[in-house]
Formats: sequence, C-alpha cells, structure tokens
Amino acid sequence: MSDAMSGTAQIGVTGLAVMGRNLARNLARHGHTVAVHNRTGARTKALVEEFGKEGDFVPAGTPREFVAALERPRRLVVMVKAGEATDAVVGEFAPLLEPGDIVVDGGNAHFSDTRRREEALRERGVHFVGAGVSGGEEGALHGPSIMPGGSDEAYAALGPLLEDIAAKAHDGAPCTAHIGPDGAGHFVKMVHNGIEYADMQLIAEAYDMLRAVAGYAPARAAEVFRTWNTGRLDSYLVGITAEVLAHTDAATGRPFVDAVADAAEQKGTGRWTVQTALDLGVPVSGIAEAVFARSLSGHTGLREAATGLPGPHRPPLGERDAAHFADQVEQALYASKITSYAQGWNMMRAASEEYGWNIDLGTVAAVWRGGCIIRAAFLDRVRAAYDADPALPTLLADAEFAGETGAAQEAWRAVVATAVRYGVPVPGLSAALASYDALRADRLPAALTQAQRDYFGAHAYRRTDRPGVYHTLWGQDRSEVRTDG
Ligand SMILES: NC(=O)c1ccc[n+]([C@@H]2O[C@H](COP(=O)([O-])OP(=O)(O)OC[C@H]3O[C@@H](n4cnc5c(N)ncnc54)[C@H](OP(=O)(O)O)[C@@H]3O)[C@@H](O)[C@H]2O)c1
Repeated sequence: MSDAMSGTAQIGVTGLAVMGRNLARNLARHGHTVAVHNRTGARTKALVEEFGKEGDFVPAGTPREFVAALERPRRLVVMVKAGEATDAVVGEFAPLLEPGDIVVDGGNAHFSDTRRREEALRERGVHFVGAGVSGGEEGALHGPSIMPGGSDEAYAALGPLLEDIAAKAHDGAPCTAHIGPDGAGHFVKMVHNGIEYADMQLIAEAYDMLRAVAGYAPARAAEVFRTWNTGRLDSYLVGITAEVLAHTDAATGRPFVDAVADAAEQKGTGRWTVQTALDLGVPVSGIAEAVFARSLSGHTGLREAATGLPGPHRPPLGERDAAHFADQVEQALYASKITSYAQGWNMMRAASEEYGWNIDLGTVAAVWRGGCIIRAAFLDRVRAAYDADPALPTLLADAEFAGETGAAQEAWRAVVATAVRYGVPVPGLSAALASYDALRADRLPAALTQAQRDYFGAHAYRRTDRPGVYHTLWGQDRSEVRTDG
C-alpha cells in the first residue's frame, strides 16, 4: 500500500459498491496502482482489508486525498449510482481537478446526461469520458466489455488501461475501443441493452414454442438450446438458457422455470432505447416488442381479467413433427435475431449521423464479442459485414446474412403461422418477420396513410410519377393543387 498523498496511482475509482470495487480489483490485478475512495469510508476500508493483497491500492478518505493520490494527468473512474449521485460526485471533484485530467463515468448514464456533463467539464479543460460497462459484477472483475466515449486525447491516456482490464475476444482482442465523442459510449451501451431485451424475448418465444407446440418439457428444451449453442446461435444468452431450463427447483422438485413467477421487470435501458429510437425516428420494433412484452407480463390485473377468453387449445405435435418443428424454430430465431440486431445497428448509425459521432459500426460488434451479455459468435460476422462495407445500409442487405434469412423463409413463416394457430404469443418473432417483409416490399400501404392524412388534415403528399408536394381538394371538386410553389 502507498501513501495517499504521493500522487503515484495510475488511476482511481470512486464509488466502491459491487461494480466499482470489482473494477478497482481488476485494475490492481493488472499491475496498476489504484487509488480507491467511497463516500462512506467503510467500503474503502473493507476493500483494502479484504482484497489489499491482490495489488497496490491507495485508500483515500476524502476527495482531496483521492485526487492528490493520482498521477497527472489524473484518471478518475466514477462508479456511483447513475443520475443525481453522478452529478453530485462530478460536482464535488471538478473544482479539485486541472486541465488535462480525465473523469470517467462508468455508470449507466443516459447519453444525454453524458453529453451535458462532457460539455460542462470541457469548459474547464477537463476530459469527461462516458464509458458504458457491460458484464455485471463478474464482468467488472474478470473482464467487461467497455464502451468509452470522449475525446481522442482522453482515449489515448485511458485506452491502454481499459484494454488491459477488458474481456478478451476469442482472437485475443480486447473488448473495448474508442466509440466516439461525448455521449457515444453510453449511447452504444444503451443500444446493447436494447438488443439484449430483444434477444432475450426471441429466446423466450422460441422456448415457449418448443414447449407448447413441440411438446418439449424444459429439460428437453434445454437439450435443444444446448445443441443450438454449438452452431450459429452460439452465444452467452443461449448458453445460459440451456442451463436455466435444465435446472430443477430444489424446493418443489419441478423444473426451475416453472417455479419462477412469469412477470418480468423492465428497468431503465430498454425503455430508454425505445424512447430514443422514437426521437430519432428509427424503427426498432424488436426492442419495442420486448419492452412491451415485459411490461404486459407484469400487468397481473389485465392478465387476470383476460384469463379464459376464447382461443385455440391444440395438442402438441407428435414426436416426428416436433423434431422438424424444433429445427424450424432455430431458423426463425436466427432470422429474427439478425433482423432485431439490424434494427439496433440502424439506430447507432442514425445517432452517429445526428450527433456527428462517426461511430465505426464494425468496431461496436467487435467490442461486444466478449464480456457483455449479448456476446455471441455471430458478432464476428456482423463486424466482417461492416468492415467489408462501412456504408452498409442494413445488416439484412449483407450478402451472407441475406442468404441466411432467405434460406430461413419457409421455416420462419411456418413458425409464426403455427404460433398464431396455437394461440402462442410471439410478438418478437412476428415483429421481426413483419419488419423484414415491410423492408423488402415493393409498395407499402403508407401510400393510403398519406392519402388519408391529406384528406382529414391537408398534410399533402408526394406522387410516384412526378416531383413536388400536392394536396387534393377533398371537400370540393377533388382537384389537385401543388403546395410547394
Ligand atoms: N450492478 C451491475 O450489474 C451494473 C452493471 C453495469 C453498470 N452498472 C452501473 O454502475 C454503477 C455502479 O453500480 P453498483 O451496482 O456498483 O452501485 P449502485 O448501487 O448503483 O451505487 C452505490 C454506490 O454509489 C454511491 N453513491 C450513491 N449516491 C452517492 C452520492 N450522492 N455521492 C457519492 N456517492 C454516492 C454509494 O456510496 P455509499 O457507499 O456512500 O452509499 C455507492 O458507492 C451504476 O451507475 C450502475 O447503474 C451496474
């Protein structure tokens, strides 16, 4: 342990609850001297007492001591409760800092707060890095996926440390990279969580179909997921799904999944993703359906009121058909997953253009290959698609992915149609298919929508045969006038 006033720590962490403590330990285990501080001193003391042997920690009792313990330019990681606490801590430290110092917010901040904080500190010459951190407390300790946003200068000073402690992908590359300026890192982390919602919903629907239509008990469905996890669906979420489904509840002896209440929560980031997508005008139906599905599951009053409403009650398929159907579910899940991920990437592209972030969309896929919740083998191919064509308008247009969704057509449609016939809700799978069909359509009924809007609100429309904006005089002789001069 070093003296708190010596200014020898390469980096500091303030906020030592589960995430901050584990990040500090991760940094120390990688040979960095880490100043540690927490509002309530007991956490600092406990960290050093319990884990002091893991590396070189410099405990600091006050913000002033903490700042003094850091090498210059100072690198401070703030890992406190997102929202007001972050503002309070940044406000407390800012007067103690000097131009060139770097404040990293590793909490789950909304990207617009990060933009605001970055601008305020920039005025003082202090760099503010909003870093999305994914992987929970285990990831923080053993290697998270880290998505830092901020200035190039800040990344140059900070990047090597983040690269040390980040997860490593199968090719050894660190799962972190400079995402872009100001709020870009927290934005990308938010979209990660939105995609996570969509992915989990699709997996849940696939399980439901295996159970209700194929007639597979959870243990059998677990086998199916385990097999899928050896193929193109290989991912953390599919892997844990197999484990959860195979687990037996100790208290009841039933499948664990049957002992768990079927009301999901939806906390901040999924909702933020959808709200932001609406603001940006980007359709993310897969994420939105996932957020709504969780919300619906928690409306016990509505669900009780609707229990017993008419609907089909079909017996499961026979053994032979069930095996074929399970294979179709794999294809529907995979095609829907590509579609939902494509929506997330579209959203990042739109924000990058809106805010001038210049996000490298292939790099985002690379950073998500390890450490985070949506880590998956398939992200190597997402990266390859964007590396091959950085201007790719949608993942669905990449030749390889287009080939796969094309090959999945019959199965995808059969699964959604079967779900409808069985009365099994598949909002994620069907929204993905609808999005796919809408994008590939020659003509959409949006033409009718535009005509209706012109009828009741004189909103005007464009025509297919000539340029200009027009309005039909619906209440008069239905003649057409040009409204754009
Ligand atoms: N938990 C996860 O899996 C996870 C994953 C990714 C990101 N995150 C994000 O990482 C951040 C930290 O998460 P966490 O679960 O470790 O902790 P947390 O429960 O979100 O926050 C507790 C920490 O915040 C400090 N704090 C709260 N209000 C404060 C204030 N006004 N001034 C100074 N310090 C204040 C607490 O200090 P005291 O000890 O003095 O109360 C404590 O160190 C959060 O933004 C969270 O959203 C969490």
